[in-house]
Amino acid sequence: MCGIIGVLSDHEASPILVDALKRLEYRGYDSAGIATVYKGALDRRRAVGKLVNLSDLLVHNPLPGKSGIGHTRWATHGAPSIDNAHPHQAGPVAVVHNGIIENFRDLRAELAEVGIDFVTETDTETVALLTQSYLDDGFSPVEAAHKTLSRLDGAFALAFLFEGEEDLIVAARKGSPLAIGHGDGEMFVGSDAIALAPLTDQITYLDEGDSAVLTRTSLEIRNQAGQIANRQKRTIRLDQARVDKGGHKHFMAKEIAEQPTVIGDAIQHYLSSNGNSVVLPDPGLDFTKIERLTMVACGTAYYACVTAKYWFEQLAGIPVEVDVASEFRYREPPVTKGTVAVFVSQSGETADTLAALRFCEGKAEQIVSVVNVPESSIARESDLVLPIFAGTEIGVASTKAFTCQLTVLLMMALKAASERGVMSKDEIQGKLSALRSMPGILNAALGLQDPLRAVSRKLAEARDILFLGRGVMYPLAMEAALKLKEISYIHAEAYASGELKHGPIALIDEHVPVIVLAPRDRLFDKTVSNMQEVLARSGQVLLITDQEGAVESGEDVWETIVLPEVDPILSPILYAIPAQLLAYYTAVAKGTDVDQPRNLAKSVTVE
Ligand code: F6R
Repeated sequence: MCGIIGVLSDHEASPILVDALKRLEYRGYDSAGIATVYKGALDRRRAVGKLVNLSDLLVHNPLPGKSGIGHTRWATHGAPSIDNAHPHQAGPVAVVHNGIIENFRDLRAELAEVGIDFVTETDTETVALLTQSYLDDGFSPVEAAHKTLSRLDGAFALAFLFEGEEDLIVAARKGSPLAIGHGDGEMFVGSDAIALAPLTDQITYLDEGDSAVLTRTSLEIRNQAGQIANRQKRTIRLDQARVDKGGHKHFMAKEIAEQPTVIGDAIQHYLSSNGNSVVLPDPGLDFTKIERLTMVACGTAYYACVTAKYWFEQLAGIPVEVDVASEFRYREPPVTKGTVAVFVSQSGETADTLAALRFCEGKAEQIVSVVNVPESSIARESDLVLPIFAGTEIGVASTKAFTCQLTVLLMMALKAASERGVMSKDEIQGKLSALRSMPGILNAALGLQDPLRAVSRKLAEARDILFLGRGVMYPLAMEAALKLKEISYIHAEAYASGELKHGPIALIDEHVPVIVLAPRDRLFDKTVSNMQEVLARSGQVLLITDQEGAVESGEDVWETIVLPEVDPILSPILYAIPAQLLAYYTAVAKGTDVDQPRNLAKSVTVE
């Protein structure tokens, strides 16, 4: 996690660095800092907490210079503090770093042995000190950086800035992404293309193990073996209009509201021109030959995979295994030919998901990624990339990316059902036409903000909240619980409704709100029975369903939210809206930091 930026500019670097860090703040916001070279001298400013603290500091204590590096931190080694904030400086070198240097303890011990002192608890300081030691030995800045890089284990993106060098940044990528931006007589480096978006749309992505030497007019990239490498320069289009709050109080509110539009975009993209079938990009997938799908992801994307398991198994008869990425490769599951491995990731940079993908390389029949960032590492290492078209997602809690992931996975499942002859043409067309009507239905669900805001005020007083769902609503219950806990900090759990009486029912009393997700599908009556078990124990039930008066003993239910009726396979997409709004309004009622909840970061590029 953490975001890094480097600029060799014609203009003052500080405002450019701070502006770029604003776009990287979703990667961490424990501290921020910048360093510049001015008249040959290296200097830095750092502040704990949000970027605004650094901006304030720079007003009173500006940092001149046209070359610089910057960092926004998600703490891994060492608490958020000024000392631990990047850039880390050791004499004539300053370093910003995203990732983890796994062998930093060994390197630290080696440096300590020759009498070098440390002022921070970070792994990054070791990089700066090691570079300084090579400079002291007489190596040039570029040589010292390369010698340092050759000593580092772990996953990292790094940028080095040197005293006396106003036209030089050395950067390197191993495990964490890094993009070089080409300006007109300027050069930039950043954790992603979004950070560089207003500066340039000409981007070169570094490959694994690459290092780069940047000047204002040149870029030299070397691969892991130290050979000069040619990396393609691409024109990247990033929709800047989508990177502001658009009149909403929070990015999360804006992103929830965008769902009808972006889901419509995703549907349109994968529909054939006559709207009767699903078309996948080249090289496509031969569903008739697939024996099994292995789906791997983290967090919200994982819940999208669990939902898709129900779809692929029920609609297309394909067995599916789903794993959280951090468990998958260490479990060392056999990945057989005939298995297609599917990796779902909004950012396309999640370290565990990327590592799981690499574990499947050479073993799985095909590697498919479902991503929001088509230029991401996960996309670039896949055989088939299915973009989700959610647009830039800034809120740390994923909303529109989740429902777009669901949309693309459902369309994939329908394509599989059609190719395997499990569903008839008419059935497929019926489902696709229901899917096409989703944007309008989602708009109607978004109209329920007032009742959802009202119940959220009460939820905000709870210490624990339970979510219940059956069948395809079970993974949605898990996603709803995750959303609520990450932004409201209220403890929330999800259970498959039928599992309640096997233990969790002991938690129920009049203080625990129980949110039941119950569309009128074939499992509705069973879910309602489970709900009655909660009511019989004084549980406070909030029922989210699609039929007014659906429950006879409605008077026992604390509150009912009625959504429009949809084809049951579409329920997870529709019910995601009230789940997100409940989390949002509960967090607003509690006054938490909705877009940047504590301890989290948007893109988790460390294991
Ligand atoms: C929760 C959330 C996270 C991410 C997870 C995977 O709201 O956003 O759980 O879903 O960190 O991230 P990606 O999808 O970028 O791989």
